Amino acid sequence: MTFRDRLLPWVTALASCLVLVAGARAEGRSAADAIHEYREMLEDANPADLVEMRGEELWSTARGPRHASLEQCDLGLGPGVLDGAYARLPRYFADTGRVQDAESRLVTCITRLQGIPREDVVRHWYRRGSDIEALVTFVAARSKGSPVDVPAREPHEAALLAVGADFFFRRSGPLDFACSTCHSQDDRRIRLQEVPNFTDPAAARASMTQWPAYRVSQSSVWTMERRLVDCIRQMRYPEPGFASDVLVALQLYLQHQASGGVMQGPGIRR
Ligand code: HEC
Repeated sequence: MTFRDRLLPWVTALASCLVLVAGARAEGRSAADAIHEYREMLEDANPADLVEMRGEELWSTARGPRHASLEQCDLGLGPGVLDGAYARLPRYFADTGRVQDAESRLVTCITRLQGIPREDVVRHWYRRGSDIEALVTFVAARSKGSPVDVPAREPHEAALLAVGADFFFRRSGPLDFACSTCHSQDDRRIRLQEVPNFTDPAAARASMTQWPAYRVSQSSVWTMERRLVDCIRQMRYPEPGFASDVLVALQLYLQHQASGGVMQGPGIRR
């Protein structure tokens, strides 16, 4: 399928979404209803597909001073094994002695296999068209249909899971918010947006299996790290560094809660 063939259905769907949102407003239905309809229409043509394709190209192209591709990258299931790997992250990697999420493991692979310095890899990670986000999207898509499996029983993982849970529930910062202030009640909405209750495994599964996601409101694909940084920013906390332990710890907690859910991502979010 050519780039244009893949582009067309979602351009059509995007136009329809604008009509749907306007129609929903006129009929008094919520924007969430319209986004739900939009999501159904885009099931076979998510704009994230294009990002995924770019990620695949980055994965298989020889780059960097070592002129190597990422095809030998070990995401936890062995060098080059992609299917189902994202669904088991974050996990402990003995060769780095760290618990790593998709982002941080990809940085390890890019620096080691391709010889690109870390600063260059992470510099523009959150920019539209970011290489690392495209790679995460590609890697995550290769877990579509795999169950999330993050038991976090390995001692390093168990220790970081405890940190993540602690962070999730502990109120602090200038607004005295915890993640749980917003994310521990059912059917909660903030400014008409649905806010998942991550203390409920069913709700955690419904949310986490959709990421990375194309965000309609941002017209771009966001990885879970970027989603978390945005919530942390709204809490007026200092912004955590890319692939930092706190982002890995929070994902460990969320993926642990979501374990058993079947990966659907890349999804579509508001
Ligand atoms: C002030 C309330 C608030 C706090 C505190 C907050 N969030 Fe959020 N969070 C939201 C809202 C609102 C959304 C939905 C945004 C949207 O759809 O545009 C969201 C979305 C999310 C999502 C994506 C859900 C989905 O499937 O679309 C995740 C994951 C998440 N938050 C995790 C966290 C974590 C972890 C913390 C703590 C570090 C946190 N949030 C703190 C309000 C909050």
